[in-house]
Amino acid sequence: MKEKILITSALPYINNVPHIGHIIGSHLPADIFARFHRTYGDDVVFIGGADEHGTPAVVLSKQTGVPVKKIVDTLKAEHKKVYDKLNISYDNFSGTSIPMHVEITQDFANKMNENGYIHTDTVEQYYCENCQMFLPDRFLRGTCPKCGYDDCDADQCEKCYSVINAYDLINPHCYNCGGKPIIKKSTHLFFDMPKAQKAVDEYLESKKDIFKPYVYAEAKRWMTEGLKSRCITRDMEWGVPVNYPGLEDKVFYVWFEALLGYVTFTKQYDENFYEEVWKKRNGKIYHFLGKDNIPFHAVFFPAMLVGNGEHNFPYDIAGYNFLNYEGKKFSKSKRIGVFCTPLLTSDLEVDALRGYLTNILPETKDSDWKWEEFKNFVNSELVGKYGNFFNRTINLLNKNFPTLDVDIDTITLDEEDKDILQKLKDEADKITDLYKNIKLRDAFRSIMLLSIDANTYLEHKAPWNLIKEGKLDEAKKVLYICLNICRTLAILASPVLPEKTQEVWEQLNLEGQANQPDNWAKVGKVDIAINHKINEPKPLFRRIDDDYLESLKEHFSIPYELNFD
Ligand code: MF3
Ligand code: ZN
Repeated sequence: MKEKILITSALPYINNVPHIGHIIGSHLPADIFARFHRTYGDDVVFIGGADEHGTPAVVLSKQTGVPVKKIVDTLKAEHKKVYDKLNISYDNFSGTSIPMHVEITQDFANKMNENGYIHTDTVEQYYCENCQMFLPDRFLRGTCPKCGYDDCDADQCEKCYSVINAYDLINPHCYNCGGKPIIKKSTHLFFDMPKAQKAVDEYLESKKDIFKPYVYAEAKRWMTEGLKSRCITRDMEWGVPVNYPGLEDKVFYVWFEALLGYVTFTKQYDENFYEEVWKKRNGKIYHFLGKDNIPFHAVFFPAMLVGNGEHNFPYDIAGYNFLNYEGKKFSKSKRIGVFCTPLLTSDLEVDALRGYLTNILPETKDSDWKWEEFKNFVNSELVGKYGNFFNRTINLLNKNFPTLDVDIDTITLDEEDKDILQKLKDEADKITDLYKNIKLRDAFRSIMLLSIDANTYLEHKAPWNLIKEGKLDEAKKVLYICLNICRTLAILASPVLPEKTQEVWEQLNLEGQANQPDNWAKVGKVDIAINHKINEPKPLFRRIDDDYLESLKEHFSIPYELNFD
């Protein structure tokens, strides 16, 4: 049965251009999952966009003197180019500055207010006299009350990921000028999170076997501390305006509205799908995000949804660990990392990159980008195993049986044939389950292993010898089996390698597209029509030699330079 599946990738702040760590931590796995479900035959909407508000872009604006709107517009366009280049198949890549988002956010908050989850309070807030501004979130720095990290901001600690209350920050100072802030009174909206504690607890309990263990544990960590009321408005100009009487000069706290971006962008894309999935709760919502975002998605958002009462809850939250670079942390200023802007001017095969990233997806712990490993992966896995099987099969067919007039009715399968076909079926089922359960790295690795089995079968059967010996029917049978394995290997890998699997689909001269809706029904099957005509073979992946590797290293070490002229 067709299911409605909404897939989201965390909305990036627009104060930089993504590096490969951002891609591996949500956009890519979300894309693979969306592609899988489309080909499987589900009704998929995959959304993303820019988290345009909040302090990150405003901080950058203060530092550079460039108007914040200009920063956001320029960098958002750059983001989009990168995702397009990587074939991230967003159905709607939007941004939180669209007018519809104001309405959605305000309505959502109104309803929470009607339900008794919001109150106003006049509280003391940090204010910098020197900069003449209140110091929300990233404008206020200090020592983390939880872990002692001394460059913690007043929203979330970068070290321990705890969500911080501004007042709890030790030794607070202004991020802009370093000055010591004074305290000023200001009236704000507060979200009564404690009221939602029980319902969120129950929600998390129901997700114990669905969330990955560390996502569940991370959510629990915040819950056991006990939820506290949280301020959901800010004294800033940049953001979604508050419509609450008397507070019209404030904006909503960025996390409060950004999470609702998922709702807005769904509605913007397809009103009916939005009604079904968000309002009628008819469908599954999957969020993909980096691990620092887990508390907001697994606790704060569900609590908001409890307070609002009119929307569906996340079905699953796929949180990813971080990617390091050759054992070090990515750093733009130190040029440590693989940056994405260079992609736009590189001849690196995008699927080679997607394949390697999938192979090291940080699903269970942090992982590491290593250029040498990248080269070896491309050469030995993508070229040597996966690509090689297609290439040999298509070559042999093209040379010997450009039209494969095999007589299926008279074929007799020996043990070896039966084994490989059983293996094909079993592995196809297993890999399908891995995709469904968002074990994308294991799914992909299993596909690579299946291509080893396929190569071994071909090697053993050696149809080139059968042809020499005049056993043509036997050779045709082997190649017919290989042809069917090729089709399954192409469909199975199509979520990860969309360009290359389509290329090979055309070489195989199969109908339609490798990743067309419902094509998944063909995996594991052996039913390609007889008299199949094959096309010209062409090696699938480019080998990476040491010179090319050096040039890639150099090329990808250059981060995006902000330039707003
Ligand atoms: N902008 C946040 C970040 O980059 C993520 C926001 S996800 C959303 O960490 F759900 F709030 F949009
Ligand atoms: Zn200051």
